[in-house]
Amino acid sequence: MTRKILVTSALPYANSDLHLGHILEQTQTDIWVRFQQLRGHDCTYFCADDAHGTAIMLKAEEKGISAEEHIANIKRDHEQVSRDFHIKFTNFHTTHSEENRELSYLIYERLKTNGHIATRSITQAYDPEKELFLADRYIKGTCPKCKSEDQYGDNCEKCGATYSPMDLINPKSAISGATPIAKESEHFFFTLPAFSDFLKTWTRAGHLQDEVANKMAEWLDGGLQEWDISRDAPYFGFEIPNQSNKFFYVWLDAPIGYIASLKHYADARGEDWLDYWKPDSTTEVYHFIGKDIVNFHALFWPAMLHSAKLRTPTKICVHGFVTVNGTKMSKSRGTFINGKTYLEYLNPEYLRYYFAAKLTSNVDDIDLNLEDFIQRVNSDLVGKVVNIASRTAKFIQNAGGVLSTEIANADLWKQAVDAGETIAAHYEARDFSKAMRDIMALADAANEYIAAEEPWKLAKQAGAEAKTQAVCTMGINVFRALLTYLKPVLPAMTAEAEKFLGETLDWAAPIQFRSGDKINEFKPLMTRVEKEKVDAMVEASKEVIANLKPKTGDSPKATPVNEPIAPEIEFDDFAKVDLRIALIANAEHVEGSDKLLRLTLDLGGETRNVFSGIKSAYDPKDLIGKLTIVVANLKPRKMKFGMSEGMVLAAGPGDKEIYLLEPHAGAKPGQRVM
Ligand code: MSP
Ligand code: ZN
Repeated sequence: MTRKILVTSALPYANSDLHLGHILEQTQTDIWVRFQQLRGHDCTYFCADDAHGTAIMLKAEEKGISAEEHIANIKRDHEQVSRDFHIKFTNFHTTHSEENRELSYLIYERLKTNGHIATRSITQAYDPEKELFLADRYIKGTCPKCKSEDQYGDNCEKCGATYSPMDLINPKSAISGATPIAKESEHFFFTLPAFSDFLKTWTRAGHLQDEVANKMAEWLDGGLQEWDISRDAPYFGFEIPNQSNKFFYVWLDAPIGYIASLKHYADARGEDWLDYWKPDSTTEVYHFIGKDIVNFHALFWPAMLHSAKLRTPTKICVHGFVTVNGTKMSKSRGTFINGKTYLEYLNPEYLRYYFAAKLTSNVDDIDLNLEDFIQRVNSDLVGKVVNIASRTAKFIQNAGGVLSTEIANADLWKQAVDAGETIAAHYEARDFSKAMRDIMALADAANEYIAAEEPWKLAKQAGAEAKTQAVCTMGINVFRALLTYLKPVLPAMTAEAEKFLGETLDWAAPIQFRSGDKINEFKPLMTRVEKEKVDAMVEASKEVIANLKPKTGDSPKATPVNEPIAPEIEFDDFAKVDLRIALIANAEHVEGSDKLLRLTLDLGGETRNVFSGIKSAYDPKDLIGKLTIVVANLKPRKMKFGMSEGMVLAAGPGDKEIYLLEPHAGAKPGQRVM
């Protein structure tokens, strides 16, 4: 029976580049979607940019462009990166769209009619200069408990105390620096507690992974609060109907954006989005998300849909976070890797395979260990899978490119076909790691068979032509099965293999043995991962010096932090760093880099070439002739654009706010700084 399945990935915020965390999520979703399609189901994949909120408004302001222009730029960029990773959306839309406005109003009106919208006045911190209510993460001050300075929002990074932002000593707006005042305004709330019983049942009805359901039970048992769904102007979003200067909070219209992306697509084809979302719809709906946004999807969203008399999701599929080499992605270590940076150095299918080999159906974090990545991809894909075709194809060519009509090893062929159903069940359950394990076990069996039959020796024996052809036909057929099973993970490599095989690999039914017809000349399908490329990617990811910048996403999950002071060192350690006064003799843009400037530094006779990630903050011509401080004994680093021989010192959160250190007048180039 053909299933009708609608799938989504979380909508990336339109305020930053896609990084490997986003790519993990889209890869997981895309593999599952391609798998369903390959099995003959009607499966569609919708996504969009999440374009609303304060963070996006401020980002556009910072860039000096309109919010609309800013989100259009980001959308183009996001779509390109996803496409390059072979993510095949049915439609990628934006939450700042007419479809989303219409659907948000429709759902909001239904909630209101059902008595699920409450209003009351609340008091919040307000920036009197910027004339803006301040979310917790936009307030800084001294911790009332341990007196650490520069703490954000409602908790202290140093001592862990939690408090109201208004309790901070000497609180300041992180946006303008002004002292916030307390100001009252009316807010709109979604009456979540009214759905407590509904959610207690829903979260245990097979829509969630067990560990996620348990987490939700903690929330439900603790008692739900009304959810604040409005924000006061200025805000980039949808105005609440019949109100002035009140907007929907970004998280209200964000999930509705899933439906809006579908509507945009359906409208153009004369279809009706409601066919998917009416309460008795037979379509399955799957949302793929990360573990940080579960409450929005497993509590607020089903409650809203329930009130609005729309169907709720079939499943919320939650994944863990990407770590690199065992720790959180870090800009200073070069492991905060943007999709775009990865693509400059490496084949996207390496990563698709590696993620597949690590992904399970649970919410554990997924570690990208770069050594293991190289080893695994080379050994599995190049060493095992591609090797089967490259070892056998040439002997088929000797037989005029024609496959034998004999099944030389019926057991091996049965194993290849039978593996299909188990592998399919693993894909269905999102246990991709088990699917990859079974696929590689089959590849091992095929390689052992070929190694035992030694076609390269047979080919030299008189009268063994038919046997050679049969052994290699066996190899090619297992290769066909392997590539069919890998097709959801490796769409581009499979497309190349299909050219070689002269057929489209299909998995709607068990795979048939191919015999007696012609295949084409074999061309190498994948090259090995080179360690140098991986290293270069990590180096390039270090380019960004904006690693001090706190994360200011537009959701309660983001807790901005100032970089903590590093552990104490001995004077001798410090003395190893040779800091020198340098004269900026020249500064210029670097073609092809949106972050770097090329600085020519005069160290009192010696000249250095240094690349510095300060382009966002400085016009090069303003730097020429200025003095600064350089780490003079830093090991030269090979960067994409050339050698960097040192590093200049700068501070600040990043973007426009990067401040190059400048010595007082009188210091001379080449003098040591102590
Ligand atoms: N805009 C919201 C989602 C709205 S959905 C109606 C959002 N955006 S996000 O850009 O911050 O994150 C998008 C997705 O990427 C989320 O599912 C999030 O969990 C996921 N990831 C972000 N960083 C991640 C990792 N480091 N690792 C894996 N996934 C992570 O949240
Ligand atoms: Zn404290």
